[in-house]
Amino acid sequence: MIKVDQRKKRLFLHAGFVVLLAFFCTGIQAQTAAVNPFPPTPNPDRIVLNVTGDPSTSIAVNWRTCDTVREGFLEIMPVTADPRAVDKASRKQAKSEAFKFEDIAANYHSVTVSGLRPKTLYMYRVGQGAHWSEWFHTRTAGKSGDKLSFIYLGDVQAGIKTLWPRVIRDAYAKMPDANLILYAGDIVNRGNSDLEWGELFYGGSFIHSTIPGMHSPGNHEYARTGDTLSAFWRPQFTLPENGPEGLKETCYFTDVQGMRFISINSYRVEESDKDLQKQKVWVDSLLRNNPNPWTAVVFHHPFYSIRPTRDNVRMRSTFKPLFDKYKVDIVLQGHDHAYARGMQKIEGATKDEKSGAVYILSVSGPKMSSKFEGNWMDVSASYTQLFQLVTVEGNTLHYKSYTAAGELYDAFDLVKQKGKPNKLVEQKPNNK
Ligand SMILES: [Fe+2]
Ligand SMILES: [Fe+2]
Repeated sequence: MIKVDQRKKRLFLHAGFVVLLAFFCTGIQAQTAAVNPFPPTPNPDRIVLNVTGDPSTSIAVNWRTCDTVREGFLEIMPVTADPRAVDKASRKQAKSEAFKFEDIAANYHSVTVSGLRPKTLYMYRVGQGAHWSEWFHTRTAGKSGDKLSFIYLGDVQAGIKTLWPRVIRDAYAKMPDANLILYAGDIVNRGNSDLEWGELFYGGSFIHSTIPGMHSPGNHEYARTGDTLSAFWRPQFTLPENGPEGLKETCYFTDVQGMRFISINSYRVEESDKDLQKQKVWVDSLLRNNPNPWTAVVFHHPFYSIRPTRDNVRMRSTFKPLFDKYKVDIVLQGHDHAYARGMQKIEGATKDEKSGAVYILSVSGPKMSSKFEGNWMDVSASYTQLFQLVTVEGNTLHYKSYTAAGELYDAFDLVKQKGKPNKLVEQKPNNK
């Protein structure tokens, strides 16, 4: 009897211990989940270099601190190897604005520096008092005709801190001298998630501060209901304010070394007749008065989808005639979580003449579409994370798409021909 009682007592104690342990662990988990892994501190973080209206003579930088740091500065000078010379850097005070959203209280700081020398390597840092970033190097753009390089990324959106960082890091390793990085929307999954933006800046780290970013919004940068842009978008980026009223810093353009880059806000085209019309007039004017030999347009919702249920007819019927008329060269898109590339007939053409514009949709994060039913494309991929590297030299654009494994997946050259549509020369590896 005594032995049985002791066994019961031990079992009871053991069960009690297990319950207590479970309770304790759950408590720790709950507490851990509530801890912000990227809290604002006095040190500058989320330092992002933005594309400007003229990247050959100006840069724009944004960063964040905790809300008790109410001012910030940017110091800049041409690169020197002499560490003593940094005392000579010029200093510019940031525009600092308080940011309160849900449980986040921070200050966002932004500086635009103009009057820089073209094609020059500069060093800059941001901060104040005892809290400064490291010195970053960045090169201003050159002039039309200089060799241009850029990186294009489709949706990041998922796996931002797990499977996406390898993509942007390999893109940078293969093209460290890129003039800019284009993001074709759905950069995060929930536009108002501080955690996801924190993961993006963790994943891209100093690359965000070194190569100017051209960010175009997707549907996931908007609240699920209504027409509200992510509360983080405008405080954390300083994009050219040269777009239509009400769509500033989501619709904008810049001219870099002979290529006009245009960001269209495709979500608002799909959602609003008024915003469609505004953007149509604006894009028409930009394409009609374009002094650059090359034109790239970046936006989220693709003209040609990989599934009939994802057809973005408003985007296509609004802009395809303009792209044909004004001979846009390359159209960079996202949204479908797959890869597809192809050319299309000129709108209304009787013969089978391709327009010269290449339409591409791509994905850089790990979220993938499970269905693929399109047949318009010459090259496609599913369940593959990719990044794209583009260079333009003279009358030829060289395009390369790499998988996250670093392998060349797709490639072509686009050659300008006088008075005729561009000629596409396949360079892709076999069996794609
Ligand atoms: Fe997406
Ligand atoms: Fe999307």
